[in-house]
Amino acid sequence: MKNIVLCGSMTFIEKMKDFSTILSGMGFYPIVPEEGNWSEINDKDIDKYKRKVSRDHFDKIADKSTYAILVVNEDKNGKKNYIGANTFAEIALAFYFEKEIYILNDIYQPYKDELLAWGSQVLNGSIRGIGSQPVTQTYELISEWREVYKSGSKAIKIYSQEKSHDYVAGKARIQSLVYNAGLPVPLVYGVKEFDGRLAIEMDYVKDESFMDENVIGDMRVEALEVMAALQNKLNAINAESFGLPKFSTLIADEIKQTRFLTEQIKSKVLELLNRLDIGKLNLCHGDFHGGNIIFDGEKHWIIDWDGASTGDPAADACMTYFYEKRFHPHAADMYLHSYCKYSNISQDEILAWQPVIAAYQVNINTKAERDFILSVINKWYSE
Ligand SMILES: Nc1ncnc2c1ncn2[C@@H]1O[C@H](COP(=O)(O)OP(=O)(O)OP(=O)(O)O)[C@@H](O)[C@H]1O
Ligand SMILES: [Mg+2]
Repeated sequence: MKNIVLCGSMTFIEKMKDFSTILSGMGFYPIVPEEGNWSEINDKDIDKYKRKVSRDHFDKIADKSTYAILVVNEDKNGKKNYIGANTFAEIALAFYFEKEIYILNDIYQPYKDELLAWGSQVLNGSIRGIGSQPVTQTYELISEWREVYKSGSKAIKIYSQEKSHDYVAGKARIQSLVYNAGLPVPLVYGVKEFDGRLAIEMDYVKDESFMDENVIGDMRVEALEVMAALQNKLNAINAESFGLPKFSTLIADEIKQTRFLTEQIKSKVLELLNRLDIGKLNLCHGDFHGGNIIFDGEKHWIIDWDGASTGDPAADACMTYFYEKRFHPHAADMYLHSYCKYSNISQDEILAWQPVIAAYQVNINTKAERDFILSVINKWYSE
């Protein structure tokens, strides 16, 4: 998700800090003005200092990662919903750079005409309205499987009714984190409301079909190479500070509650998981396959970060290997080969995860897929 820059008189700084905590919890990146040490600046340098402080804050507003400004406008010296000269200049800049403008309280009357003409949105004291405005544009369905729509340059991915705001904001936050880590990922604009459900709005990527089921021969080899290089790139990122769940915990939880494995098999798989998990905290996508890569004719984009976690790259690579093994058996070994070529991980290290990865997925598939997964686990168990 993009940044939200807080603006307002410095007398409201404590309030801005409080809102910044709430905004983080909603999945945004809040930017609070620098407090500065005004008392230590001597009179002759004051203009120079003010110029610098203003320019720094203007830069943050104009930044392409900034989605909106939140104007904190409390009452000051008897003036209701006060907006000072500096804050008004910041609002003008936000308008010029086409950022959303949120006014915390009601409109400040002296600037009413401009504030309304520039599309300011009044929050009446509640910042919960930020980023989940109802979608008003017309959207065209692009993926029935998971209700993803397109309108102009934006795509919108809709979540099921029972998903809470915190859940969807959390997913939006993950995608923003990986975007900020420099990966080719569609930029997220925020959480929106669509027909009573919550959705993530992001950049639409023109889909020139990357890993079509019918792609054969050299083209498939080339696509697998691209995939392996991309996965290596994302797996190389240290995601310790991202606040993501641990891959090994997600795996263990899923295995513990499945009804498709016996207790003996479960404990042997969990034992293997314990042995393999040596505490690596690399970024793992969790569902990295051709369907989650979009090629726009020039560049490859990685989508669908809902299952991201921190863990061992070998486990993430094994997920992809196992996916290929189920759906395109001939591609699996080619993929393994390519992945290892780009990393310093051996094929054996990746394959060691296979029983764990198979058991992790035993719940989520159709009977035919589950039978295949069970055959892999049983073969390993009986060896
Ligand atoms: N930003 C985007 N730009 C263009 N197309 C997109 C975008 N996001 C999603 N799509 C399309 O919608 C499809 C489904 O989206 P996504 O993979 O995020 O969700 P998903 O279906 O839940 O994933 P999965 O089916 O892998 O569980 C994608 O395969 C892609 O075709
Ligand atoms: Mg997908």
